[in-house]
Amino acid sequence: KTPSFSVNPEKQFFYCFGCGAGGNAIGFVMDYERLEFPEAVENLAQSVGLEVPREESRPGERTAADSNKPLLETLEHAAQFYEYSLRHHAEAQRAISYLKQRGLSGEIAKRYRLGFAPPGWDNLLKTLGTDAAAQNRLTTTGMLVKNDKERVYDRFRDRIIFPIVDQRGRVIAFGGRVLGDDKPKYLNSPETPVFAKSRELYGLYQARHANRNLDRIVVVEGYMDVIALAQHGVTYAVATLGTATSETHLDRLYRMTPEVIFCFDGDEAGRKAAFRGLEAALPAMQDGRQARFLFLPEGEDPDTLIRSKGRDFFENLLDNAQPLEEFLFAHTAEGIDTDTTQGRTRWAKLTVPFLNRLPETGVYRDLMFRSLAERTGIEVSGLHRLAPVEPAPAEPSIPAESAPSYLASYSVPDAPTDYDDVPPPDYDQEPWPEDTDAPVLAPPNPLVYSPLNPVHRLIGLLVLRPTLANGLNPEQCPEGDRPDFALLKSLLEQIAAHSDISTAALLGYWYGTPEGEFLAELAGREILGENEELAELCQALWGKLQRENPLVNAKDRLSQLRKKDYASLGPDEKAELLKLTAEVRKLSGKA
Ligand code: UTP
Ligand code: MN
Repeated sequence: KTPSFSVNPEKQFFYCFGCGAGGNAIGFVMDYERLEFPEAVENLAQSVGLEVPREESRPGERTAADSNKPLLETLEHAAQFYEYSLRHHAEAQRAISYLKQRGLSGEIAKRYRLGFAPPGWDNLLKTLGTDAAAQNRLTTTGMLVKNDKERVYDRFRDRIIFPIVDQRGRVIAFGGRVLGDDKPKYLNSPETPVFAKSRELYGLYQARHANRNLDRIVVVEGYMDVIALAQHGVTYAVATLGTATSETHLDRLYRMTPEVIFCFDGDEAGRKAAFRGLEAALPAMQDGRQARFLFLPEGEDPDTLIRSKGRDFFENLLDNAQPLEEFLFAHTAEGIDTDTTQGRTRWAKLTVPFLNRLPETGVYRDLMFRSLAERTGIEVSGLHRLAPVEPAPAEPSIPAESAPSYLASYSVPDAPTDYDDVPPPDYDQEPWPEDTDAPVLAPPNPLVYSPLNPVHRLIGLLVLRPTLANGLNPEQCPEGDRPDFALLKSLLEQIAAHSDISTAALLGYWYGTPEGEFLAELAGREILGENEELAELCQALWGKLQRENPLVNAKDRLSQLRKKDYASLGPDEKAELLKLTAEVRKLSGKA
């Protein structure tokens, strides 16, 4: 009777009344599988057995995707060979015991597709390298190595195998660990046409699949850390592949989560690695994003810690991890005597270049500068002068007088210095007096559906039946600085330009915008009725808009003027006020 989730197969869209998610099939796959647009298209195509047509390349020229396909197939076969060997090879018992002794279950081994490269020089070579072409592919993907005497043999021998998969779960490389204490402990695939270390993160694919929403992602140092954490229910950890955390990594992570927590050893190397993570994170720190840092006690890593102390303990550490701000300021203050003026100046000088890497448009950047000013006693303007900053084109700043009037008397209250002095809040106080003129905080989406609003009803009708718009002239849309007017006009223009546009295509076009949310909601409301009835309804709504439109505008403008203090109005504005009052009376039939 009251649906909470609606799917319209005919119109090709979905809408969730619970959370407001909505859109077309591609948007659904993007949201649900957390994929980028091209991957979502491929995923859908694959599910119905279609090939996505590629842009025509010059005849005879093959695209990277074409030439990568056989390599990916080879890697997948290799992964299957290792998985199979872990279960069936005569020597595999050692590997299984090793994994068990490290606390891993068969289920986790399966989820991460752990495998075993049996001892010997040519197990993979013999199994997969059946002809020259196959051997070439194995070499290109780094599975085989050649020695000085041109002898070719398996790269991974007598090791536990960790397949590395890309965003879509395709095997692109491997890591391999010795079963004992031999060196090197880990071997990794080299960089290949399908594997760039600085882009990939171990465990990201599994993390995305284990969690509908990733509230946070933990970056750890090793394969085994990711897996041990998952074994204990912390399914949102990823590891870089023996490289520093790059800006590409952070970009990728912040598309999926608002918070990244770096979790490193407490030793010198761990701190260095964490600081590199911080440097890579700075440009990605748009407002609303967070980075934090957790340093583990000497000699512990996430794997040993979660095994000895358990999930709650570890997650509690994550909850209390050090914010970027504290870590940065503490790190740059190292070795400086911040009790002296010189020390604090030096501290500021060292810190400012980092703050300058924060996104320029953010409030966060300002807050960080203010925080540094407080800590060093150097004013923000002074900080800006400290280091020569590249002459970035000045952001056009909003002039003070255009700030909304209700902010004029607003100032940030000083934080109380001593919390004991602060009187407890008086809960018995009178409730706030009703103040109908008080500014209402803007809702997150400026478009809020109102069933009585003819513009909204018309938009709802058009998104479901775009053809109804034929004959409605976008130029005759109600004018006015309102998002719903603007949206109606854009819709009419879009439909005029593509007369056969579908509901799904419209939703796809607006995907990810406030308008898109609004349209999906309206589409989810499904207007019932025969075609003719709907066409009539459409005409009726349009006619109503045409008639009422001058009134809406006059009313809007009038209420703007009335909000101002009468005494502050200029002569023109006063005249306009009188004229509008008369006009509204006339248009609403009260004259
Ligand atoms: P660690 O030495 O911290 O490994 O290296 P770990 O994860 O704690 O390993 P276990 O617990 O002894 O099994 C962290 C990461 O550095 C890379 C690997 O990616 C590893 O996961 N590494 C380390 C190598 O690439 N080669 C090495 O020889 C060692
Ligand atoms: Mn370890």
